[in-house]
Amino acid sequence: MVVVVVVVKFSVVVLLLLMCAPWCAYSLVVPYRLQVGMTLVKNSTAKALGAYCLDGSLPGYHFSKGFGSGARNWLLQFEGGGWCNDVESCLARANTRRGSTNLMTKVETFNGILSNNESFNPDFYNWNRVKLRYCDGASFAGDSTFDNGTSFMYFRGQKIWQAMLLDLLPKGLARAEKALLSGCSAGGLAVFLHCDNFSKFLPRNATVKCLSDAGFFLDVKDVAMHETIRTLYHDVVTLQGVEQNLDQNCTSSLIDPKLCFFPQHNLGFIKNPMFILNSAYDMWQFHNILVPSLADPRKEWKYCKYNISACTESQMKILQDFRLAMLEDSYSFYKHSTSGGMFINSCFAHCQSEQQETWLAADSPIVHNKTIAKVVGNWYFERNETKLIDDPYPCNSSCHNTIPPAGYIITQENILGLQRKL
Ligand SMILES: *[C@@H]1O[C@H](CO)[C@@H](O)[C@H](O)[C@H]1NC(C)=O
Ligand SMILES: *[C@@H]1O[C@H](CO)[C@@H](O)[C@H](O)[C@H]1NC(C)=O
Ligand SMILES: *[C@@H]1O[C@H](CO)[C@@H](O)[C@H](O)[C@H]1NC(C)=O
Ligand SMILES: *[C@@H]1O[C@H](CO)[C@@H](O)[C@H](O)[C@H]1NC(C)=O
Ligand SMILES: *[C@@H]1O[C@H](CO)[C@@H](O)[C@H](O)[C@H]1NC(C)=O
Ligand SMILES: *[C@@H]1O[C@H](CO)[C@@H](O)[C@H](O)[C@H]1NC(C)=O
Ligand SMILES: *[C@@H]1O[C@H](CO)[C@@H](O)[C@H](O)[C@H]1NC(C)=O
Ligand SMILES: *[C@@H]1O[C@H](CO)[C@@H](O)[C@H](O)[C@H]1NC(C)=O
Ligand SMILES: *[C@@H]1O[C@H](CO)[C@@H](O)[C@H](O)[C@H]1NC(C)=O
Ligand SMILES: *[C@@H]1O[C@H](CO)[C@@H](O)[C@H](O)[C@H]1NC(C)=O
Repeated sequence: MVVVVVVVKFSVVVLLLLMCAPWCAYSLVVPYRLQVGMTLVKNSTAKALGAYCLDGSLPGYHFSKGFGSGARNWLLQFEGGGWCNDVESCLARANTRRGSTNLMTKVETFNGILSNNESFNPDFYNWNRVKLRYCDGASFAGDSTFDNGTSFMYFRGQKIWQAMLLDLLPKGLARAEKALLSGCSAGGLAVFLHCDNFSKFLPRNATVKCLSDAGFFLDVKDVAMHETIRTLYHDVVTLQGVEQNLDQNCTSSLIDPKLCFFPQHNLGFIKNPMFILNSAYDMWQFHNILVPSLADPRKEWKYCKYNISACTESQMKILQDFRLAMLEDSYSFYKHSTSGGMFINSCFAHCQSEQQETWLAADSPIVHNKTIAKVVGNWYFERNETKLIDDPYPCNSSCHNTIPPAGYIITQENILGLQRKL
């Protein structure tokens, strides 16, 4: 979303018009975006738990206080940003904004589901809204350290999650009436991993639900028939000591307990109501799970990856099969979970709840004429139909991004990209 960043930071209208045509026209009419500063977890809390970012800095979050009828409701959102899966990639990450609060932006813009404006976020605008910054590289779920005498790193995602909750409890979270745990990408995966545990920190009579955005990473082979994502996750779980924090009913049911890091294996064990928001052709999964660079040495997917209309028939068939795999892997959830919700659209997107353009705008994606904001709100408040699946591509025309927006390559492949080893 480089385009949006440009809008916020520089307001260079000419550059903007050159870059984004209708796709981000909406940004132009938003007069004001809420900026929220970072709070570091209290030193004493972090110390007691050993909750530190990869580089040893204190974890941080951005908190915007609720008001009116939302004053006792809480939305917590995990930031995303890929994973690190070996010592080298984690050491490199520790020196970036993905591994150290020292290197992060200290002010974040709250858009989409985090917006405080009722017209942009009708159901959650007045809740307490918190963005939890990601600095561990294992979806907030690791618990170990690396120390070989010359290099040292903290792998403490699970402790960071707990420390943030402990910090927020006295700020009102301890008296929450309604709560929603959300997150996108690696943060969307964290939602599956922490959904049930979240309840343990809240009053017993609180309503607790969870929304995973672009976190339904599939356990599938790539186009060269390699288990790319399975290998990556296996390494993340092993390196960072994640297995002990996975759902025990899941780990005891599988021959390879590490697979419980995958939502499709973990989903059946989650007790709180879940909402799965995902594109059936999730951009990140397409580029990194289905067709990672190593699986396409002759670059046959080069054009298709960046322009869907340039895909050949056989490539389109592979993409359609990927969509079917996603629907199959969520089928029993779709069929049997009465409290669950779903919005599986056919846009070539990755993360749709954090940006105003996709969450709720005059031309944001719709399925059965409903926006994502509408369906998520209907699900949370139990108002209406909440499991929507779009027709397959070329589907209906509410997607703006069959061609990725300018800057896509930079924002997705370099920052969220798989690490060196793959
Ligand atoms: C925590 O506080 C102690 C002393 O109060 C200080 O020495 C230490 O550097 C602080 N830790 C961090 C990570 O800021
Ligand atoms: C919400 O957005 C609308 C439309 O841009 C604007 O008119 C209104 O002032 C905003 N309200 C708040 C509270 O920021
Ligand atoms: C510790 O690990 C780092 C990173 O892999 C490596 O560069 C360094 O040589 C290692 N030190 C020792 C003593 O093995
Ligand atoms: C939960 O119980 C507490 C204490 O009895 C009460 O103050 C609070 O309003 C209740 N919350 C809900 C959502 O019913
Ligand atoms: C769940 O939360 C409790 C705190 O109530 C914590 O002690 C425990 O380690 C957590 N378990 C997992 C698997 O996250
Ligand atoms: C495992 O399942 C049992 C039976 O449904 C349940 O009582 C228990 O809380 C579950 N454990 C976890 C860690 O979810
Ligand atoms: C996308 O591919 C189609 C079909 O090959 C082509 O007509 C179109 O110009 C391409 N668009 C862009 C922006 O490259
Ligand atoms: C697609 O559009 C057609 C015609 O407007 C409509 O009947 C159908 O319900 C739409 N499908 C979805 C999944 O929105
Ligand atoms: C779609 O929703 C909009 C706004 O809710 C409404 O005005 C319009 O009539 C709806 N269109 C259809 C075909 O239901
Ligand atoms: C959902 O809303 C539609 C139109 O607003 C209504 O016809 C339908 O009965 C509602 N469904 C449920 C389950 O409330």
